[in-house]
Parts: sequence; structure tokens; C-alpha cells
Amino acid sequence: MERESIEVINTHFVFPNDTNNYGTIFGGKLVEMMDLAGALSAIRFSGEDVVTASIEAIDFRIPIKQGDIYELRSKVIYTAKTSMVVKIDVYREEKPAYKRDFCCRGYFIFVAIDKNGKPKSVPKLKPVSEDDRKFWGVGEIIKRRALERRELTA
Ligand SMILES: CC(C)(COP(=O)(O)OP(=O)(O)OC[C@H]1O[C@@H](n2cnc3c(N)ncnc32)[C@H](O)[C@@H]1OP(=O)(O)O)[C@@H](O)C(=O)NCCC(=O)NCCS
Repeated sequence: MERESIEVINTHFVFPNDTNNYGTIFGGKLVEMMDLAGALSAIRFSGEDVVTASIEAIDFRIPIKQGDIYELRSKVIYTAKTSMVVKIDVYREEKPAYKRDFCCRGYFIFVAIDKNGKPKSVPKLKPVSEDDRKFWGVGEIIKRRALERRELTA
């Protein structure tokens, strides 16, 4: 079965207890929110329960300050038999103009699981746009790298 992937958008505030000592969002908090957004995309796409199998390195480019709005845009970009690569882009919107700045991008790999936690097949992603085709290729590389890294660090 083939299925198109639809972008999921999640929007949040940075609350005081999400921040580090410098008044910007704590990196671990942002990764948690990215993981959650990615899982939602993977669940919506596959219709299955999922677990996070791997996270590609993330470069944090711009800090997100307390009180800022931040937006996570997540989309399944690549599928194999039971795994899905999800791209998650994070933007901040700074008051008062709410100008959007790109903050970081993460690639998370989720695996669909059955009731016993065993990997389960997912639908095949159907790329429809030029961007979908471009990111399918990126996802393929991310998946291959994750497996190579797993092998290397085992
Ligand atoms: C992810 C998990 C289900 C894989 O189970 P497994 O028994 O190793 O299964 P397999 O080796 O058959 O791999 C299943 C799929 O996962 C992929 N996979 C496994 N480990 C991976 C990793 N580190 N990075 C990327 N993909 C991985 C495999 O390539 C395979 O993909 P495919 O079917 O699309 O080709 C299992 O390792 C697990 O439960 N890990 C813990 C997950 C977790 O607790 N996450 C954090 C909280 S959600």
C-alpha cells in the first residue's frame, strides 16, 4: 500500500520551566518536543504505534527565548519495511512582529511496532512533489548512516 505524507504543524510557547540559565529553551526540551512531533507524524502516516529508533545529529542555530512562540513542522520523508524517517523543522516567532526564523532541523527514525513491541510493516511513502522526491533521497541517506553508526558503535 502507498500513502502520501502530510506535514504536521505543532505550535508552542517557551515557558519559564522549559529554559536554561540563559533564558532560552533547554536543548533537551526542544529535542523532546521534536521527538513528540515526529512520533505524531509517524503514527498519523502509518496508523501504528511507533518507537524512536534513532536521532540524527541536530545543529541548533538560533536560540529560542522564554516567551517566544515556536513551531515544529514534521513530515515522513522516507519509508523502508518497518521504519520511517521524519524530518522536523523548528521555527521561532519573536515578539512583537512574530517574524519567523529557522532554528534547526532534525531527522528522527521511528519503527512501527505491534502489541509485543516487534517491528511491523508500514505503508510505502508515495512522493508527489519535487520536494518529496528530493527528501526521499535525503531520508535514504539518513537511514543508511544510522545503520552504519549503529554497527560502528555496537
Ligand atoms: C527499534 C526496535 C523496535 C527495532 O527492533 P529490532 O528487533 O532491532 O528490529 P530489526 O533489526 O528487525 O529492525 C527493524 C527496523 O528498524 C530499523 N532499525 C533498527 N535499529 C535502528 C537504528 N538504530 N537506526 C535506524 N533504524 C533502525 C531497521 O533498519 C529495520 O528497518 P526496516 O524494517 O524498515 O528495514 C528496537 O530496537 C527497540 O524497541 N528499541 C527501543 C526503542 C525505544 O525504546 N525508543 C525510545 C523510546 S520511544
